[in-house]
Amino acid sequence: MRIHCKLLASLLCLGGVLILYLFLGNAEEEPHVKGTPKANALQATSGHGRARPPTPGHFRAMQDQKAQRHSKKKNKKMSEMKAKGPSLREQEKKRPTMPEEWMHLAVVTCGDRLEETVTMLKSAILFSKKRIKFHIFAEDSLKTEFESKFKEWPSAASRKYEYNIYPITFSVGNAEEWKKLFKPCAAQRLFLPMILKDVDSLLYVDTDVLFLRPLDDIWAFLHQFNDTQLAAMAPEHEIPKIGWYSRFARHPFYGTTGVNSGVMLMNLTRIRKTQFKNNMIPAGLTWEEMLHPLYQKYKNYITWGDQDLLNIIFYFNPENLYVFPCQWNYRPDHCMYGSNCKSAEDDGVSVLHGNRGVYHDDKQPAFKAFYEVIRDYPFEDNLFQSMYYPLQTKFLESVHTLCGRIPQVFLKQIEKTMKRIYERRVIVHVGPRVRD
Ligand SMILES: *[C@@H]1O[C@H](CO)[C@@H](O)[C@H](O)[C@H]1NC(C)=O
Ligand SMILES: *[C@@H]1O[C@H](CO)[C@@H](O)[C@H](O)[C@H]1NC(C)=O
Repeated sequence: MRIHCKLLASLLCLGGVLILYLFLGNAEEEPHVKGTPKANALQATSGHGRARPPTPGHFRAMQDQKAQRHSKKKNKKMSEMKAKGPSLREQEKKRPTMPEEWMHLAVVTCGDRLEETVTMLKSAILFSKKRIKFHIFAEDSLKTEFESKFKEWPSAASRKYEYNIYPITFSVGNAEEWKKLFKPCAAQRLFLPMILKDVDSLLYVDTDVLFLRPLDDIWAFLHQFNDTQLAAMAPEHEIPKIGWYSRFARHPFYGTTGVNSGVMLMNLTRIRKTQFKNNMIPAGLTWEEMLHPLYQKYKNYITWGDQDLLNIIFYFNPENLYVFPCQWNYRPDHCMYGSNCKSAEDDGVSVLHGNRGVYHDDKQPAFKAFYEVIRDYPFEDNLFQSMYYPLQTKFLESVHTLCGRIPQVFLKQIEKTMKRIYERRVIVHVGPRVRD
């Protein structure tokens, strides 16, 4: 008897969800549109091949296309839902709780960094709560490859992001001159404030970064900026004695060890508005005005390209920089000479940065373990079974290295992240049943 009641209640509940889905489906889905191949083609050809910011018009056009397709798809979706009810049900219930603010994530990809970039983006959406707009600057030859990678991701993942792919370009000032001055890929990120005119703030990361906790958590630093801060980075090194800048740099740099630009938060609105102090003219210069002369002045002294320019800029304008702790940009430097990142020892690694190519060789297997498990994780599987346990196993194989000897530093935060996600899912799942 009780079983019958329960069954009936479950059926009613499922029915309710189905009806809700039909009514809310359109309204809910439309803003989640991601860059369709058509829309991207449209964008790439507009503006004479220059990168253009995603204007509201573009997104609206995409939505219209999607809406048309949507009504045709509705019936198909109904039958799909009947087939695999529970998993879709879970997702439906999670939707209304998704907050509306978008986070923006930018990356510049050249050469053979496609897989690395896709793995980084995957780590961002696996753990994040708010939705993310990806701004991907890539060589034209990579565009279709990105598009087909995104198509492989399941629809539950697609709801969490939109993307735009832009060509590598200096679409401000004299583009030809810029191209001659900079290596195209290296300096692209310096131009983001001018290219992404409609974006207020963004997180820029190198392709070899992996998020081990929600992007929301690093995004929160933006709200901690005081009135003058407009960018945030972590120190390049924790120990001046062995840091690169403190030993070798022939140009000014921020603080005692310089900053690493592989993970960089930017309030673009502020960067566009600010007059920056410099040692070229007594008056301040805007970001856009400053880049060219600064490069001219220092080009014979810089080694690491745009990161050096950023260090020079913030040497002259220290009040504009927020420095976050090393756990948010954790590199082999933090453990290969012994553990020296205090914040990661306390809280675990939050953002992993496998520079020096360590995801692709065998020098730092501790870093490579993360890369491989995130890359190979089949989206909809159980996180503990298909990611955390394989990670632990792989990590154990790295104990012969200095970095591999501190599993508590590497694993603490990602374990917490997974527990939190698991709890979110379980609560969503159990909630209604407790009510009946
Ligand atoms: C960035 O700065 C502008 C201007 O000060 C401010 O209005 C905006 O809220 C800031 N953005 C974030 C995400 O804090
Ligand atoms: C903001 O913080 C920076 C770094 O701590 C500091 O140099 C700057 O003076 C602060 N700005 C304001 C307006 O308090």
